Amino acid sequence: MKVEQKCKILSKKHLNPYAVQMELAVGDMVRSSLTGPGQFVHIKCGESRLLRRPISVCDWHGSNEGDTLTIVFEVRGEGTEWLARRPEGHSVDVLGLLGRGFQVEDQGAYLLVGGGIGVPPLLGCAGACGGASTAILGFRSKERALLLEEFSKDCLDYKVATDDGSLGYHGTVDELVRRELEEGQHYRGILACGPRPMLKSVVKAAAAFGVPCQVSMEERMACGVGACLGCAVRMKDGTMRHVCKDGPVFDGEEVDWDV
Ligand SMILES: Cc1cc2nc3c(=O)[nH]c(=O)nc-3n(C[C@H](O)[C@H](O)[C@H](O)COP(=O)(O)OP(=O)(O)OC[C@H]3O[C@@H](n4cnc5c(N)ncnc54)[C@H](O)[C@@H]3O)c2cc1C
Ligand code: FES
Repeated sequence: MKVEQKCKILSKKHLNPYAVQMELAVGDMVRSSLTGPGQFVHIKCGESRLLRRPISVCDWHGSNEGDTLTIVFEVRGEGTEWLARRPEGHSVDVLGLLGRGFQVEDQGAYLLVGGGIGVPPLLGCAGACGGASTAILGFRSKERALLLEEFSKDCLDYKVATDDGSLGYHGTVDELVRRELEEGQHYRGILACGPRPMLKSVVKAAAAFGVPCQVSMEERMACGVGACLGCAVRMKDGTMRHVCKDGPVFDGEEVDWDV
């Protein structure tokens, strides 16, 4: 059941110069509508902005004393800037939980592949997999890296790539993903979230090694609940699917990557 409610900001901290982490008190939202990692909330960013902003769930706790959600977002434009300025103790209008997340099995060994602000929802996957996964995390530079300590705790292993070589492997995550798959480790699947070109190449590598791959897609959204066609993506079979309602997570093999 989707819920729209005022949610108090319990804590707020900057993870790096660009990204903010917020913990929200969300009533019974986790217990009533969480189906898995990769779902998102739609946040009203000020009275004057009609369209809500979609932000993925990074972490969550369900409790009879009240559920909490953690989100991590980068300031991109006026909506996220407004949100980043909200102080602890203030409330924001949140609609959620929305969308279909990743399908994961407890104790499954997954390869988690994240790029930039696509990294936070994978932390929820790492937790849901029970610590049996390996993460490959890509950032533009060391100063944009985030949540590394958390991945080190929640995964068997994690590797970092940066575009400028300032941290970890110098290059994109693609090469690290291929190396990991070549080493023959048996993965139940790949779970990926990040920019479309990264997703496209991860899906290609997954297909080459015969590993199932789920991808979380990012499209501009309006209603967030499947009512406006604002977020449509084309599938290989020619149909259009809504990122907000049918996704954001899809089987990578089903998406038409050539449009
Ligand atoms: C399912 C989903 C999950 C997301 N999860 C996260 C997350 O966990 N952390 C994070 O930092 N960002 C996330 N994003 C991207 C985030 O929604 C945008 O960065 C944000 O909406 C930008 O709003 P703005 O007002 O600051 O920017 P502006 O550019 O001023 O926004 C103008 C309009 O475009 C839309 N828009 C702009 N960029 C995007 C985008 N990349 N995706 C979708 N809509 C966009 C805005 O919602 C708004 O309606 C997610 C996007 C989707 C679709
Ligand atoms: S945002 Fe309206 S249909 Fe997806």
